[in-house]
Amino acid sequence: MKKQEKLYEGKAKILYATDNPDLVVQYFKDDATAFNAQKKGTIVDKGVMNNKLSTTLFEYLAKGGIKTHFVEKLSDREMLCKKVSIVPVEVVVRNVLAGSLAKKLGMEEGVQLKQPVIEFYYKDDALGDPMINADHVLAFGWATKNEIDWISDCALKVDVLLIELFARHGIRLVDFKLEFGKHKGEVILADEISPDTSRLWDMASGEKMDKDRFRRDLGKVEESYAEVVRRICG
Ligand code: TMP
Repeated sequence: MKKQEKLYEGKAKILYATDNPDLVVQYFKDDATAFNAQKKGTIVDKGVMNNKLSTTLFEYLAKGGIKTHFVEKLSDREMLCKKVSIVPVEVVVRNVLAGSLAKKLGMEEGVQLKQPVIEFYYKDDALGDPMINADHVLAFGWATKNEIDWISDCALKVDVLLIELFARHGIRLVDFKLEFGKHKGEVILADEISPDTSRLWDMASGEKMDKDRFRRDLGKVEESYAEVVRRICG
């Protein structure tokens, strides 16, 4: 497999073509942004840590029957992935009230929800990723009814699997964001799963171990990412 030209550069990752038209290299950067890139910074070795953690999580989910774009880890910062056309919908799953939902409802973070909540956001930075619902996804043709049903079902299965894994390592999975893509006509889980795209709270202390430490200037950002990697990847 030969890495070729840059296809796309996002805020946290770069995608490169390969000599196989069905595969891409996903390169993880240290760049960190928040609030639609109004806040910018660097989290030292974030790319290495997120690549490592995403690899472990994608391998774990694959064993649990989840179809993902992950093929193999190539290096510290690179993973080989199936090439997908991304569904422009960010799928957020919440188990515990936090972040934008807590703010919207004017409630304290930390309330355990009686069931998981799935939310959809239209993936458009310029618009600030506005919240949408399944009807919008269908009405604009971003996915079919079958696909959106499959995506919702998959997101809930991922939730069950990840809650269990993180809990085994003393971490409460508060919420997370998934992205899906189409590969050869089939919808699969894509992007990454990391402290950039989730809220992870230490079960013993309640300490945040995720990107909220960067968003909210809580300090110990690198240390917290490293602790998540240490617990989950060994
Ligand atoms: P929120 O509470 O800010 O809506 O975030 C919900 C979850 O989604 C949280 O785990 C962080 C993640 N997330 C992203 O991965 N990308 C984003 O652009 C946003 C806003 C949230």
